[in-house]
Amino acid sequence: MPKEKVILGSDHAGFELKEDIKSFLIEQGYLVEDVGTHSTASVDYPDYTRLAAEKVAAGQFPRAVLFCGTGLGTCIAANKVPGIRATVCLDTFTAGLSRAHNDANVLVLGGFLVAGRLAREIVRTWLTTTFEGGRHAQRLDKVRAIETEGRLKRGKLYDISRPIQSGMVVWPTDPPVTIEPAKAIAAGKSSNVSRMHISTHTGTHIDAPRHYINGASGVDDIVPEVLMGMARVFQLDPQLRSIDGRVLQGLNLQGVSRVLFGTSNSSLWGRNEFTEDYVHVSEEAARGLVAQGMKLVGIDYLSIEEFRNKGRSAHHTLLQAGVVIVEGLDLSDVPQGDYELLCLPLRVKGGDGAPVRAFLREI
Ligand code: RB5
Repeated sequence: MPKEKVILGSDHAGFELKEDIKSFLIEQGYLVEDVGTHSTASVDYPDYTRLAAEKVAAGQFPRAVLFCGTGLGTCIAANKVPGIRATVCLDTFTAGLSRAHNDANVLVLGGFLVAGRLAREIVRTWLTTTFEGGRHAQRLDKVRAIETEGRLKRGKLYDISRPIQSGMVVWPTDPPVTIEPAKAIAAGKSSNVSRMHISTHTGTHIDAPRHYINGASGVDDIVPEVLMGMARVFQLDPQLRSIDGRVLQGLNLQGVSRVLFGTSNSSLWGRNEFTEDYVHVSEEAARGLVAQGMKLVGIDYLSIEEFRNKGRSAHHTLLQAGVVIVEGLDLSDVPQGDYELLCLPLRVKGGDGAPVRAFLREI
């Protein structure tokens, strides 16, 4: 019989129990993967919970055994991963029923609460008890329905892309936007077709690394996962002239990989002409964003760069680090907070940039 795989993970408070259970499982012939932590140094339980639970949800491991101090935080975090049914068990009775009735795919143990032979017996019971199905399967279908319907519930959608239209404001050295009829029903043709003349940096758009780095990757090389997912919107003080290192330090970017800056730039779009003194991101802040592991940075005017910075250092810093830059956003009506971002650029082959249609959805 092929050996069953089990994935383990813990925080510092569950570390010792994890090590003990790991030896036990290896002795019992299980194939064990351990995502950490690997010491008693303080860590955050959601990090390890997520690593292991996502592998179970993806079908890479049938089951996980996770550990923290009480088991509670880890259980809460694991159950946030769609497809996970995690239970904390303090005895063999609940361990057995969590399998037989709840088909739990994650067992959580509290290192403050169980140890030694009891902990081993809980794990053994949990791993060897099978799901009874029948009326329990029907109940679990209802649990899954709560999860699925919850995910499909749609929050308010914000269109954060600027309309593309003839004569709109563009970067001073970019070609103007013109959209004019190439065929018109009014002129006796069978359909309306327009001819559009725009640059790849028109309105709301993405800058690809190739924009400033010759031969670097184009807009069609950007992995879609970066363009979709959780983003944090900051509505910054309208008096602010520059997003510099000090401003950045005052922002909570914990756990964030996409950030959109709403500034007084929003009011500039009402003008007919390009404005040079828009709010920009300083090079120092760009370095800070890279250091924090940001994947995508957006702002609400035509450039993140200070107008007079001919070295384009903020662009270089971000693009060299592979950070996607989104410019020209319309964040005027979006309250500060976390959203799901959908930011879809035209698939311009090898493009140095491309206009995007971008949305934020309330979470
Ligand atoms: C860490 O002290 C502790 O809070 C954690 O291990 C866990 O018990 C959380 O629920």
